[in-house]
Amino acid sequence: NEFKNILTEVRGKDKNIGFIQLNRPKAFNALNAELMTELEQAVKKFDADPSIGCIVLTGSNRAFAAGADIKEMQNKSFSEVCKGNFLSNWTALAESKTPVIAAVNGFALGGGCEIAMMCDIILAGEKAEFGQPEIVIGTIPGAGGTQRLTRVVGKSKAMEMVLTGDRISAKEAQLYGLVSAVHPVDNLVDEAVKLAERITRHSKLTVQLAKEAVNSAYETTLAQGINLERRLFHATFATNDRKEGMTAFVEKRKPNFTDS
Ligand code: HXC
Repeated sequence: NEFKNILTEVRGKDKNIGFIQLNRPKAFNALNAELMTELEQAVKKFDADPSIGCIVLTGSNRAFAAGADIKEMQNKSFSEVCKGNFLSNWTALAESKTPVIAAVNGFALGGGCEIAMMCDIILAGEKAEFGQPEIVIGTIPGAGGTQRLTRVVGKSKAMEMVLTGDRISAKEAQLYGLVSAVHPVDNLVDEAVKLAERITRHSKLTVQLAKEAVNSAYETTLAQGINLERRLFHATFATNDRKEGMTAFVEKRKPNFTDS
C-alpha cells in the first residue's frame, strides 16, 4: 500500500472496481490534509485507469469519517484559510468521470458527510449516522454541506441539520433520499461492490455520459439540463457501443462493449 491514511485495492470478479478505504481508525477517519491529498491521488489514479469501471469508497464500521480534522483546524486564522483557499482542493471525488459509490458505516459527519455527498450513490449500513455538526464547534459546512445536502433533502431538513448539528439515522437518510439503500453493517461493502459490478457490465463510455447527464440536473436549470441530455443522447449515436447495444438486443444476444 502506497498510502499512510487510506488503503486501496482492486476488487470484483473482473478486477474492475477501484476500492478505497479511509484508514485513520484512531481519529474516526478525521480528514486531515495528508489524507485528503492521498484520497485525491487514489481517485485520480483509478479514474485514469481504463480497466476500472467504478470506485467504491468506504471507512470503518465505526466511522466513515467524523469530519475535517478539528485538531488540524483549531489554530488556523482567517487570513491563512482564505489566502490558502482551504478545502478548495477537496474536489477529486466530485470531478471523477468514473462513478463513485460511498459505502457508509458509522459516522458520516461534517466533511465526512460532505465527501459522501460528492459520491454518485450512497449506500448506508444500518447503524450509519449522517450530520453536519459544524455549528457545534462554531463554524459551518465548507465542502458542500449547505449546498448538496439542501438539493438532496430539501430546505427544511437541511436547515434543521445544519442549524442544530443533530444527526440523522440511516433510515431517516433513506427516507429523505440521501442514501439509496440501507444494508446490514457486515454486508454493506459487499453490496456496494455488487452494485458497482452491475454498473461495470455496461459501456464505460456510455456510463460516463449518463453520469454527466444526471449531474447536470443539480447544476443547471431544467431547460438547460433537458437540452444537454438530448445532445448527450445524440452523442451516443457516434459510439460503437450504442450500435453494438442495439444490435445485440435485436439479435437476442449479450452486447460486447468496447468502451468506444
Ligand atoms: C479530529 C477527531 C474528530 C475530528 C473524532 N476525532 N472526530 N479528531 N477531528 N473531526 C477523534 C477524537 O479526538 C478521539 O481521539 C477519537 O477520534 C475518538 O473520538 P471520541 O470523541 O472520543 O469518540 P466518541 O465519544 O465515540 O464520539 C464520536 C464522535 C465525536 C461523535 C464522532 O468524536 C465527534 O463529535 N467528533 C467531531 C464531529 C464533528 O464535529 N465533525 C465536524 C468537524 S468540522 P483522541 O485521540 O482525542 O481520543 C468539519 C468542517 C467541515 O468537518 C468543513 C468542510 C470539510
